[in-house]
Amino acid sequence: MEKKIYIETYGCQMNFSDSEIVASIITEKGYSAAEKADDADIIFINTCSIRENAEQKVFNRLKQLQHLRKNKPDLVLGVLGCMAERMKTSLLEEDQMGGMRVDMVVGPDAYRDLPQLLLDVESGQKAVNVILSSEETYADISPVRYASNGVSAFISIMRGCENFCTYCVVPFTRGKERSRDPKTILREARLLFQQGYREITLLGQNVNSYRFREDQNDTIWSFPVLMMAVAEIDSSLRVRFATSHPKDMSDELLEVIAAFPNICKAIHLPAQSGSSTVLRRMNRKYTREDYLDRIEAIRRIIPECAISTDIIAGFCGETEDEHQETISLMKNVEYDFAYMFKYSERPGTLAAKKYPDDIPEKVKSQRLQEIINLQNELSLKSNQTDIGKVFEVLVEGKSRKSDKRVSGRNSQNKVVVFDDNGYKPGDYVQVKVVECSSATLKGMAVK
Ligand code: SAH
Ligand code: SF4
Ligand code: F3S
Repeated sequence: MEKKIYIETYGCQMNFSDSEIVASIITEKGYSAAEKADDADIIFINTCSIRENAEQKVFNRLKQLQHLRKNKPDLVLGVLGCMAERMKTSLLEEDQMGGMRVDMVVGPDAYRDLPQLLLDVESGQKAVNVILSSEETYADISPVRYASNGVSAFISIMRGCENFCTYCVVPFTRGKERSRDPKTILREARLLFQQGYREITLLGQNVNSYRFREDQNDTIWSFPVLMMAVAEIDSSLRVRFATSHPKDMSDELLEVIAAFPNICKAIHLPAQSGSSTVLRRMNRKYTREDYLDRIEAIRRIIPECAISTDIIAGFCGETEDEHQETISLMKNVEYDFAYMFKYSERPGTLAAKKYPDDIPEKVKSQRLQEIINLQNELSLKSNQTDIGKVFEVLVEGKSRKSDKRVSGRNSQNKVVVFDDNGYKPGDYVQVKVVECSSATLKGMAVK
């Protein structure tokens, strides 16, 4: 009988995108998809290591899943992704894992080996492959879009990261930075468009350092060039990208974003901190002034652009003054949206080796709360200034709260909810904003 497989994904969009690659590799070998973990013969957990609580969530889930072994002694439980890469074979040591059993450990560059590893497990061995590659981009694999709304899709354009921000585990779990062949990216984007998708997000840890050299004709593809090529597929195909690093945010890229109506006017530009001394300890390779210079460039070249960020509260040695510089940066930029975190020390990172994690938990929490409260005000203010404006909204589906309403996004990546006049996912509708909360815009369709 055909074996059923269930994949559960944690972490960033790149991990979700990888799970689609895993699904593609596995289903080609005759395994079929299970609707839920309870129905599966094989369960893969694609994991994240970015903060301690991300790993804790996975440990709790692995523990919960152990009870399925009672009725299914042959159940295969595999840990994939960043935790697999960080913890390697220690995940297989039942005494280190509090008695939990894991059968497979597979790092992010080893997914082509999954069918073989599954055979190894079926023959009674434990299976491990955590080899990182400097070439693997899964360029030729067509991901199975299993959790998609049929309107927006993600395309990985590069893998890995070599920036070595001192707090970050990603360079250790994802390996060397490498860019995918643009031909395969464009082929995938065209196919998605033909299938009805209307929005593509180009993914990478640092997309604006995308670089691919075509040896045949000696041309170099930079990120602005790639994005133009994707935008030219069709004017009704929206293009987004994430994430960009402030040090590589060039005017050339901003000009391309400004020039194409279908390239969305939303830039995620993680600041991490507003203090140049903290940024130096983080090895972010820019100062507060450099960052503000890039914000000024965005405002000048793309006036209607939304700007969002990531902030870390309580990094090693952060003084109250340094924290206040983050607060003042946020007020200065007036972010539309932010992801905000408490610093979490990750084993093996440069910060873990070099700087004590010396900000008391209570102070970290207070600083984070101050940052969150401020961002809530800024998000509300940003949404209030949209009242009365008309936006083009790409419909994604029914609103979560009501069947009579549909939900979609504007170019600025803000969620807009409005009455359903028989719209279908993928429709573009002109919507006038009439009301808002800090999270959502509410509007009315206009002719
Ligand atoms: N490549 C992206 C970010 C990837 S990780 C970039 O450089 O912008 C996503 C976010 O998690 C980071 O921007 C950072 O804000 C946060 N993060 C990473 N490591 C962290 C840690 N050790 N503790 C707390 N937050 C962390
Ligand atoms: Fe981590 Fe920095 Fe790379 Fe982002 S750029 S993934 S924060 S090392
Ligand atoms: Fe997490 Fe790995 Fe992404 S650590 S944030 S899943 S690259």
